[in-house]
Amino acid sequence: MAVMAGRVCVTVTLLMCVLGGQALHLRRLTATSGNSPSTPTVRCRCASYPNVTLCSWPEPSHPTPTHYVATYSERHRRSVTKHCHLIQPGSSSSDLISTSSPSSDQLWHCPLPRLKLLTDYIINVTAVYSGRNSVHLSSFMLEDIVKPDPPVNVQVSPYDFRNLSVQWSPPPTWALLDIFPLKYQIKYQWESRGIQKSVNLGPYESTKVELKLRSPGRTYLFQVCAKELLGLGECSDWSAPVKITIPKK
Ligand SMILES: *[C@@H]1O[C@H](CO)[C@@H](O)[C@H](O)[C@H]1NC(C)=O
Ligand SMILES: *[C@@H]1O[C@H](CO)[C@@H](O)[C@H](O)[C@H]1NC(C)=O
Ligand SMILES: *[C@@H]1O[C@H](CO)[C@@H](O)[C@H](O)[C@H]1NC(C)=O
Repeated sequence: MAVMAGRVCVTVTLLMCVLGGQALHLRRLTATSGNSPSTPTVRCRCASYPNVTLCSWPEPSHPTPTHYVATYSERHRRSVTKHCHLIQPGSSSSDLISTSSPSSDQLWHCPLPRLKLLTDYIINVTAVYSGRNSVHLSSFMLEDIVKPDPPVNVQVSPYDFRNLSVQWSPPPTWALLDIFPLKYQIKYQWESRGIQKSVNLGPYESTKVELKLRSPGRTYLFQVCAKELLGLGECSDWSAPVKITIPKK
């Protein structure tokens, strides 16, 4: 029953997104006090709807803050703030951090567990410098910042010079695949007389697709991305390219 209720809510969000347009954009309001040192550039992402959300930012180069204070609250209950349990750059062992992005190792992370659906949140990341503070404020709704990790185990097998199959596995970090299924897009690229060409296909709900590519001898690069089935947020980054050459007759 709870699951069904969740689904209904999600549908409502999509309607709001269509009507509101704006709702899909992460609203950012950055407030700096005077000519203070640089403000952290904070990005928030939900890699497994609905409960694995991370807000992350790189350490500003110089000067380096002495420390950070990061808090978040519901927009309409700003008196009730929660403190982030910050994860420092280099602590990649935390299983909360998606392994898909190599640079995520160099970021500060604030995990936001168990956010409510369809609720506006405000995150405040304050970089504390000796004598000065620099405050980043941004606002988001969980549904707008969904971005899965890329699909894994992408395999491309040519049957013969006419057919090939592309198959992959869902990102293992997307925990509730049964309740919140994913859809996928395929991108393939090739070079023709020095010009790079690219075709996008999908979305597909299956994890295997047969394609007819009638170009014996041509080499293609295949990549796949994953998006929440109803269209929440954005497609994952593209998977690492898989190279395949169509056999000659
Ligand atoms: C996410 O939610 C599921 C189902 O409610 C739960 O089993 C899981 O432990 C949660 N994960 C985190 C990181 O809170
Ligand atoms: C952001 O957090 C800092 C440090 O906790 C606090 O001093 C400041 O008032 C907060 N700003 C807003 C707009 O909530
Ligand atoms: C190509 O794929 C189609 C199905 O998509 C199949 O019916 C056909 O037999 C395949 N052709 C070859 C030569 O394998």
